[in-house]
Amino acid sequence: MKMTTIRTIGVVGAGTMGRGIAQLFAQAGHTVQCYDAIDGAAERGVSAVRATIDRLLEKGKLQAGSAGAIKAAIRICSRLDELAGCDLVIEAIVEDLAVKRELFRALEDIVGDSTILASNTSSLVISELAAGCRHPQRIAGLHFFNPVPLMKVAEVIAGVRTAPATVASLKACVEGAGHRAVVAADQPGFLVNHAGRGLYTEGLRVLEEQVASPHEVDTLMREAAGFRMGPFELLDLTGLDVSGKVMESIYKQFHQEPRFRPSSLVAPRIAAGLLGRKTGEGWYHYVDGSRQEAPRTAPPPMPAGPRIWIEPAAAQRAGLANLCEQAGAVVVSEDQAADVLIVQPWGADATSYCARQGLDAQRAVAVDPAPGLQRHRSLMITSVTQARVRDTAHALLAADGTPVTVINDSPGFVVQRIVATIVNIAANIVQRGIASVDDLEDAVRLGLGYPMGPLALGDSLGASRILDILAGMHALTGDPRYRPSPWLRRRAALGLSLLTPEAARA
Ligand code: NAI
Repeated sequence: MKMTTIRTIGVVGAGTMGRGIAQLFAQAGHTVQCYDAIDGAAERGVSAVRATIDRLLEKGKLQAGSAGAIKAAIRICSRLDELAGCDLVIEAIVEDLAVKRELFRALEDIVGDSTILASNTSSLVISELAAGCRHPQRIAGLHFFNPVPLMKVAEVIAGVRTAPATVASLKACVEGAGHRAVVAADQPGFLVNHAGRGLYTEGLRVLEEQVASPHEVDTLMREAAGFRMGPFELLDLTGLDVSGKVMESIYKQFHQEPRFRPSSLVAPRIAAGLLGRKTGEGWYHYVDGSRQEAPRTAPPPMPAGPRIWIEPAAAQRAGLANLCEQAGAVVVSEDQAADVLIVQPWGADATSYCARQGLDAQRAVAVDPAPGLQRHRSLMITSVTQARVRDTAHALLAADGTPVTVINDSPGFVVQRIVATIVNIAANIVQRGIASVDDLEDAVRLGLGYPMGPLALGDSLGASRILDILAGMHALTGDPRYRPSPWLRRRAALGLSLLTPEAARA
């Protein structure tokens, strides 16, 4: 099969996604033909796109001439067979395997042999969609994100029988429209939804273990790890019913892979209608669409001259000692002589860490050494930390005005464990050949809005550090979800960047 030059694009389904796809390609200079099975739906969809173009013109984002040309380039089809002359047809209809298969079969009778047929499905298997078709080599996934014109990435999914030329043609077409096209294998969640599992599953696991509240987890992921949103804010935005289904389906499709195990916290909340923004209540409460949050509480008062011992191995020993002294504490060199012991473990819970080091867990707290945590400190207590020890440490860490979140004992605090989980899943995506390193990194940045790609995130701590965190979580919990990917192990063993691509066999 040769590459197809794509000029005219058919869009089937003029709903949320179909409209966005039509707008994107019309703005890129293509002729777009829209069809919808429901009477009047294509007209409504096309009118909505034209109204959007008018708004862009009003805002000065388009010239009058080009706005007119774009509007004229989007045409309404009243019958499916009007798509006969299209070089590419993208379906964005109902998410139902049987209905989509039927549509592809019908399209094969209408379009020419070199026309590419693409599906915007987010969860169906592309090879299953193509299975009933005469020419499965011209069928692929083309997965956009909502809102299509603003989410500057699309996944091109190669089904088992998809021809390389089909993938190359779609990639060229998408990139011609100014979006990044990333190529993914036909595997559950493709690339973005697969890579995005870690934030949700580990966030929920942190909550299951009573380590921190949803609000605390979100705050740490935003303020300390630099994410735009934490897992619970995201779940509220998407709707727990929608995200819950994706969590279940990816877990099932990967045959109960423990890394994707959903949380039992979800079903009761869905049943109770705590779906998020759309029901006014989820992990947060919303009034007239705005999230209600309790104001930040002031840190406890500083006691006079507490004696503080900071473990010699602490990553931020000098900075912490300085902070304590500035706040009027005395930093001592013997742990027996101290009121508060500060440790900085990677991948370990405070209690086990103190037990291993022979430190008094009642007088101990842990401070997350992960780099971003100077912006928002994470203070972890052991199972037996005394309240006065906790409050003294809190007052000291907050003495320079940095916000502090106190959390319960957890292997890897909150940020370390969520970041390590994200990195591990990403490593496994590359290990399985689902995507290249570059495509994975860009897909996650553009599709999920993470501050950096997952492997660059891993590099920011170092591959061996990520491995230590995972190994620590695995050792304490015995949970196979934390078993490190071999791909990660090998890079850590060689001291390599996680962005190093796999050597080619030939
Ligand atoms: P929608 O419900 O907004 O629009 C679907 C449109 O398809 C409707 O206008 C409907 O009348 C039409 N339709 C249904 N069956 C049809 C058929 N057999 N032939 C022709 N038209 C038909 O749905 P939405 O949200 O645009 O989703 C469309 C597809 O895109 C689904 O496969 C969905 O999973 C996928 N998707 C949705 C995203 C989203 O955020 N909404 C994101 C990425 C993918």
